[in-house]
Amino acid sequence: MCGIVGYIGKQDVTEILLGGLEKLEYRGYDSAGIALFNEEGVHVYKDKGRIADLCKIVDFEVKATLGIGHTRWATHGGPGKTNSHPHQSSSGRFTIVHNGVIENEGMLREKYLKDYPFKSETDTEVIVALIEHFANENKADIDNVIRHVMELLHGSYALGILDANEPGVLYAAKNKSPMLIGLGDDFNMIGSDAMAMLQCTNQFLETEDGEFIRLTREGVTIYGMTGYVVEREPFTATLDASDIEKGIYPHYMLKEIDEQPSVIRRIVQEYIVNDEIVIEQDILDAVKESDRIYIIAAGTSMHAGYVGKQLFEQMAGIPTEVHISSEFVYSTPVVSKKPFFVFISQSGETADSRAVLVKIKKLNYRSLTITNAPGSTLSREADFTLLLHAGPEIAVASTKAYTAQIAVQALLAAKVSNEPGIDLARELAIVANAIEILTNKKELFDRVTKELLTHRNCFYIGRHMDYYVALEAALKLKEISYIQAEGFAAGELKHGTIALIEKGTPVIAIISQESINLNTRSNIKEVKARGAKACVISMKSISSSTDDIVIDDVHPLLTPLVTVVPTQLIAYYAALHRGFDIDKPRNLAKSVTVE
Ligand code: AGP
Repeated sequence: MCGIVGYIGKQDVTEILLGGLEKLEYRGYDSAGIALFNEEGVHVYKDKGRIADLCKIVDFEVKATLGIGHTRWATHGGPGKTNSHPHQSSSGRFTIVHNGVIENEGMLREKYLKDYPFKSETDTEVIVALIEHFANENKADIDNVIRHVMELLHGSYALGILDANEPGVLYAAKNKSPMLIGLGDDFNMIGSDAMAMLQCTNQFLETEDGEFIRLTREGVTIYGMTGYVVEREPFTATLDASDIEKGIYPHYMLKEIDEQPSVIRRIVQEYIVNDEIVIEQDILDAVKESDRIYIIAAGTSMHAGYVGKQLFEQMAGIPTEVHISSEFVYSTPVVSKKPFFVFISQSGETADSRAVLVKIKKLNYRSLTITNAPGSTLSREADFTLLLHAGPEIAVASTKAYTAQIAVQALLAAKVSNEPGIDLARELAIVANAIEILTNKKELFDRVTKELLTHRNCFYIGRHMDYYVALEAALKLKEISYIQAEGFAAGELKHGTIALIEKGTPVIAIISQESINLNTRSNIKEVKARGAKACVISMKSISSSTDDIVIDDVHPLLTPLVTVVPTQLIAYYAALHRGFDIDKPRNLAKSVTVE
């Protein structure tokens, strides 16, 4: 939620900030803004809308070598210009960009800022107002002023701060919200992620919660919570700038759907060496010592977790529960004697999941994060990490991360299993081929979607593994095409929801398992008898000649990896036909860093 970028150096900062913000737009796109600091002072350009809209109002004649930028996902106040970042203090001395949420902003307004002339409804303006308030009291030392304000703030923040009295310094602070420092010759940067800075550098420093950072053109000083200087080794990002380009594709989502076979093959390469699954022994021991796995995740990652539950139970015989992270924090169930927590998160930054991690760490429970983002908060804070190796996923709608999450869980389940198990190198290769065949049939999905999705609502139904995929399929359709979609257990439909079926209601059934084939087909007949327009996605060996989409057979435990692909493409074409912004659907952000 929200992206920030900042630069201090020798080059003209405008293009650097705008380029960085474009890469961060996945984090929110309600409004955007930049502040450019030169000898004349600080120039702020901001407005509602996308970076492309911002480019139209920026004065490119203004040259500066220090600046900060922001792309917003609105939390406090609507997405209009006044609430857009950067925000300035009332005197104009301080300018700030913020990613996060300040939970005690009401109390702070009340206690320190009663007469302050607030312009916006944001919590961010409270931060910049507090900095000014304490700077007026303690004129000498801005470092201490910012640190003092940090102590007062409850909540999450990644901050970029300019002080009009300090033309050679970019200040930054971090708590709970992600922030990296980018290092270069004669310049230094801050950004919400590495992608925002890759245009300038691939050398980065991580930051920890509670740290305050002072960046100049020549150097970076990180201060820990109590003011001590932190020494930290930089790391080199392995990301390539071309990994984050669309290339020949009209949308990132389509590119990422098509990348799934190569992601599955890469996972096999990374995790299987000489026919052996290679996973750190400490992880295997921790899983084997546990009496129950608790999978904690949100959205698509949670849907991948449901499939993981089947894999851990059926392949390894370990009882497994899946929990919505935002619910687990508050209605924590009674956990088993030796629980093991598995956090699944594409971004590794999801605040709801992190809140659970913080909670279970206090109870000394062990944890693993399965993520696509090395160095992310969930990865750093859990005991162990398994990486997805899916490459950057830019489209807000998650596709390749979902399949990668299932593949990695399958590898872990197979490795901790005491049984001889399935040959995953072979089975995942079959999966990759089956996905490739599907992604080569785009005209089929384009046509099926056009004919089928003529209503404002739609049902996905399935049983067993197919039910879990139905949940994910419905989420995908909702989030980018805005069709009201529901994923339903096929057998449960007749217990109430079938009342919603009327003439022409689209119902898409997924049938991947022999054991449920006939039952799900009966459910299709039931909805058809009530006027539904049905579409069947099935596996070849159990298909009927009238099925609409038939998928090459894969191992029965791995069917979600392939049955999800038609549903991703159906969502894609549904959004395309409706003319919506596929990669940046309304109201959403890729990385949900607020609870
Ligand atoms: C799905 O397409 C969404 N992007 C969303 O449901 C996402 O899976 C959820 O917000 C969790 O994000 P994470 O995997 O980064 O933790």
